[in-house]
Amino acid sequence: MSAWRPGSEALTSPGRGSWSWRCCWWWWVMVVGVAVGSGDPWLSAEACPSSCVCSSNRISCVDPERGINAFPVLQTEAEMENITDIYIANQSTFSSINDKDLHYYKNLRNLTVTNSRLTYVSKLAFQTNLKLQYLNLKDNNLSSLSWRIFRHLNISYLILSGNPLHCSCENMWIKLWLGEEADTQELRCIEDGGVRKLLSRLTLPNCEVPMATLNPSRVTLKEGGKVDLSCTTSGVPSPELIWNMALVSNYHIETSGQISVLRLSNLSSLDHNSKISCTAENIVGEKESSLLLDILFPPKITKLSDAIPDHHWCIPFSMSGNPEPQLQWYLDGKAVLEGEYIMTMIHDITEREYHGCLQLDTPTHLNNGRYTLVATNKFGTDQKEVEAHFMHNPSDGNEKEPYYYASSTESPPVDPPEDRVAVYVVVGIAAVAFTGFLLMLVILKFGGNSKFGIKGCALFQNIPVEVVSR
Ligand SMILES: *[C@@H]1O[C@H](CO)[C@@H](O)[C@H](O)[C@H]1NC(C)=O
Ligand SMILES: *[C@@H]1O[C@H](CO)[C@@H](O)[C@H](O)[C@H]1NC(C)=O
Ligand SMILES: *[C@@H]1O[C@H](CO)[C@@H](O)[C@H](O)[C@H]1NC(C)=O
Ligand SMILES: *[C@@H]1O[C@H](CO)[C@@H](O)[C@H](O)[C@H]1NC(C)=O
Ligand SMILES: *[C@@H]1O[C@H](CO)[C@@H](O)[C@H](O)[C@H]1NC(C)=O
Ligand SMILES: *[C@@H]1O[C@H](CO)[C@@H](O)[C@H](O)[C@H]1NC(C)=O
Repeated sequence: MSAWRPGSEALTSPGRGSWSWRCCWWWWVMVVGVAVGSGDPWLSAEACPSSCVCSSNRISCVDPERGINAFPVLQTEAEMENITDIYIANQSTFSSINDKDLHYYKNLRNLTVTNSRLTYVSKLAFQTNLKLQYLNLKDNNLSSLSWRIFRHLNISYLILSGNPLHCSCENMWIKLWLGEEADTQELRCIEDGGVRKLLSRLTLPNCEVPMATLNPSRVTLKEGGKVDLSCTTSGVPSPELIWNMALVSNYHIETSGQISVLRLSNLSSLDHNSKISCTAENIVGEKESSLLLDILFPPKITKLSDAIPDHHWCIPFSMSGNPEPQLQWYLDGKAVLEGEYIMTMIHDITEREYHGCLQLDTPTHLNNGRYTLVATNKFGTDQKEVEAHFMHNPSDGNEKEPYYYASSTESPPVDPPEDRVAVYVVVGIAAVAFTGFLLMLVILKFGGNSKFGIKGCALFQNIPVEVVSR
């Protein structure tokens, strides 16, 4: 320990000639620090427009004299991410919400733009504002608004009264979506002749939400099989038809008019429980029809591993198969009788796999041996083997205490394992410490010698004499 003291002395006494350089450096750090520190508030004052009031979570712009024409941009992304409310009112030059305007306001919940000149809202306006719930666009200049602006959102309030909405098919979704709320807001639309009518009374020919129908509606087939799925759409204006799926199996699509056929072949078991959907979409809205593939295939044991000690011992396995395979375990060729102390447990069922354990409660040497798992369903069978050795220390009944397990050693070790580990650790630490000490000595010894070319290193310069003298 005391051998270190000379070293620390060497640290505190600066090397000759380096004084003025350090002085310079600190001076520079201080100048920069002061500059950065004072720059911060000045810049953020600049970032919040003078006609707005910005707090840590809210931006409000209501000054009609010094108006804004776009959303404020704050100094840092972090500041914008903290904003949950934006309130804009009485801004006669505010006319649009464009693609990227709200990009950084990722936590925005309430947006109000009222009594302004809002005329255009981009379809991508709220692309990143997934938390947007309350949208108030009252008293603006909107003549239409697309449902696609909101397709990825979960809006709870939409206030549109006081806008010159056209009685057009594009706005039909507003009537359908708001329902009775449209009357509560007294929403009106303007017909071509200039007549205003209640939106809830709006009826238009050739303006309907489309339909999509998958046929057949269920698919249960053997692996390797093939099937044609047809999707029939209807609606006016005639909808766009979109298939959506991620499949391993071969497929191709043939579309003619309002009907599309998905031809699936060589069905893969990897697609069991995969979703296939067909969506019809037009200016009024969208409808989806979907199914989950049910693919029958023989059992496959994908994993059977060495036993692991947990609360109980567990021989872990993973397998797949549809219908669900029956499982039977064998120990050295003899069927394992499951019961209170040995049983198969399924812990997790994913889309295509079952994950579980052969669980053994306090196994003894009688449970050692070669375990075989056989999985069977009506399409076939699969099996895998693993060697397991358990040893129970008879002197200790406590569950968490020393069991010993080795997969390959025939003769278990004599010492309790923890003692052996402890000895290894102590010996290891001692060896490392000693090596380090020798190394230090070598470095210190030759460090002062200019022949070895490390004389310039101030830390080691004065050390050798003192260490050797101790
Ligand atoms: C964001 O808000 C949190 C909690 O209100 C606050 O601690 C943090 O300083 C804010 N971050 C910024 C950049 O304003
Ligand atoms: C907007 O202006 C109107 C008068 O034109 C006023 O009554 C209203 O309070 C103003 N709104 C806000 C939020 O300042
Ligand atoms: C904004 O959102 C908060 C919480 O989501 C809500 O309590 C508040 O009433 C909203 N503001 C307006 C103007 O609706
Ligand atoms: C309102 O929007 C229409 C287009 O829909 C535009 O021609 C008109 O100039 C806008 N009015 C104002 C006052 O901005
Ligand atoms: C949508 O919002 C409602 C309540 O506002 C909530 O109950 C529902 O879970 C939300 N759905 C999603 C997908 O966030
Ligand atoms: C069917 O799929 C299997 C594997 O999924 C592949 O080995 C086989 O070659 C495929 N057959 C055809 C005709 O594509």
